[in-house]
Amino acid sequence: MAETHARLIEVYPTLPFEPVRGSGAYLEDAAGRRVLDFYGGHAVAALGYGHPRLAAALTEQAKRLFFQSTAVKLAVRNTAAERLAAFAPAGLDRVFFVNSGAEANENALRIAIRATGRSKIVALEHSFHGRSAAASAVTWGARERWYGFPRTPMDIAFAPRDDASALAALVDADTAAVIAEPVQGQAGAYDLGAEYLTAARAACDAAGALLILDEVQTGVGRLGEPFGADLYDVRADVLTTAKGLGAGFPCGAVIMTEDLASTLKAGDLGTTFGGGPLACAVIETVIDTIESDGVLANVRAMSSLIREQCCVGPIESISGAGLLLGLKSRVKAACLRDALLERNVLVGTSADPNVVRLLPPLIIDAIHVEKLAEALKELDDESLQ
Ligand SMILES: Cc1ncc(COP(=O)(O)O)c(C=O)c1O
Repeated sequence: MAETHARLIEVYPTLPFEPVRGSGAYLEDAAGRRVLDFYGGHAVAALGYGHPRLAAALTEQAKRLFFQSTAVKLAVRNTAAERLAAFAPAGLDRVFFVNSGAEANENALRIAIRATGRSKIVALEHSFHGRSAAASAVTWGARERWYGFPRTPMDIAFAPRDDASALAALVDADTAAVIAEPVQGQAGAYDLGAEYLTAARAACDAAGALLILDEVQTGVGRLGEPFGADLYDVRADVLTTAKGLGAGFPCGAVIMTEDLASTLKAGDLGTTFGGGPLACAVIETVIDTIESDGVLANVRAMSSLIREQCCVGPIESISGAGLLLGLKSRVKAACLRDALLERNVLVGTSADPNVVRLLPPLIIDAIHVEKLAEALKELDDESLQ
């Protein structure tokens, strides 16, 4: 383990590698050691490192206007909202910018409860939605482990993620919304699939509840389509996103239907930093780059290649979609991650102790996939026990 720092509250275990720069899909430390990044800083580094268009957009905006809040109108904010609404699934036309995934979910839940006048949220077992009060209340297992508040801000029922009838039975006249990640990320890339999501939509329609898709991890191209809602052809009332949206610049968004937006009036939502000019310049550039550089097609191609080439060494199966993939290993994921890092490949773990998570930059190529497969092949089960 890397040394802890006396001034930091290091409540997060850190890896024995300290990057000081990055280029493309590679990170590099001060000594020049290069590590191939298949984790993307928790799914954030969508365009990899040192991307010239991102750096240029940020620098130009920084020189022009570093910050202004929502106290004033900003052309760059309008443009980012136009671009994001056009990139988002049809019918999700209105955008509220925030700073993070948890903040996006916190607002989405509040909007759903206020708009429906109901007090119950149905969430899924094994879900992760963030660390703020409402977002963590709908996160599976948080209350037992780290929630910390004496009560939750709403009534919550957790439904099994593999039984759509059990989910439907929980969605009733008190239910404001169902919240779900199309592919559960933290859980280890568990793909809910089109059938389950379609059933969730139908259950919401039958009960007059809203469907919130948490696309903080799955959104902005990660699944090879703009959003999971596109991949599975499911209609959301509210969609939240963050992580890859800023490709490393902190930002998030709540995207909703015109109907839902019309329930909101001045003062209902607020944020100091959300929708700031730097974030908005980056958001516009991220979406432009994904579209102009064929990034979605690349995600689909690299996803297939990983499935073809990486079920080797200690890996017995691959779950997930696009470039949110779970490698199910015969050995503990933490051991496998450490052994891969020794071979200069960075991957993540997940809530499943046997699943290693891949969340690489969306711009990886076939050579990177080959390097991962080679590193996996070198590892046999015995050397990892
Ligand atoms: C699906 C999902 N929702 C919400 C969050 C919380 O996002 P943030 O850490 O930006 O608050 C995460 C973070 O991992 C996530 O994966």
